[in-house]
Amino acid sequence: MKSQPKKIHFGRHTFVICDEVYEPSEDSFLIARNLSLTNGERVLDMGTGCGILAVIAAEKVNEVIAVDVNPYAVECAGKNAELNDVAVKVEVREGNLFSPVRDGEKFDLILFNAPYLPVEGDEGKNWIEKAWSGGETGRTVIDRFIDEVSEYLTEKGRALLVQSTFSDVDRTLEEFSKRGLIAKIIVEKKLFFESIMLIEVTPQNTIKRELV
Ligand SMILES: C[S@@+](CC[C@H](N)C(=O)[O-])C[C@H]1O[C@@H](n2cnc3c(N)ncnc32)[C@H](O)[C@@H]1O
Repeated sequence: MKSQPKKIHFGRHTFVICDEVYEPSEDSFLIARNLSLTNGERVLDMGTGCGILAVIAAEKVNEVIAVDVNPYAVECAGKNAELNDVAVKVEVREGNLFSPVRDGEKFDLILFNAPYLPVEGDEGKNWIEKAWSGGETGRTVIDRFIDEVSEYLTEKGRALLVQSTFSDVDRTLEEFSKRGLIAKIIVEKKLFFESIMLIEVTPQNTIKRELV
């Protein structure tokens, strides 16, 4: 008998967890619990995985673009958008970081629960490893994101990035600052061996830090 696909629940939403796709974890929930959006804003969910953040964002806004390099994730996020009745608001695109973003497209909020764990060797061996592997320093994808993100933000746009103390959070703050962006840790969650941080990147210096 064929087994039923695994499902998880977050708030009133249900998500199918597809093979080869990252299963939402503490890092996903850290962003999900701290999403504040205003009607009319346009959202980019980078590295959407099963689409959890795209679907939650689509509860509050009408236009969400969800991107993932993993074709299984692209399919899965589309399924979960349908399952949660937001398919009309969520467009899923396959590609490497910002490559699927069209010329001139800008966003009020860019989300990224990035692959941030340091691992030996540059690339993950399979799609699940690629979901959490940030290469030897844990920063391979994060550094590219930092370099490119400002080009895709509206004038008052902001980004939310999750990373771990394993991959040098101070360096992330510095690298954003070098590019004229203000980056602050707005939430920190302690896990067994590391803390995960939610970093908000914005032109405005109006952010508070709290511990959960
Ligand atoms: C930690 S998972 C987060 C998944 C989902 N957003 C969540 O919070 O549960 C990171 C996701 O980023 C995707 N990813 C990794 N490198 C990427 C890249 N260069 N461009 C686009 N997506 C990427 C992975 O395939 C994976 O789905």
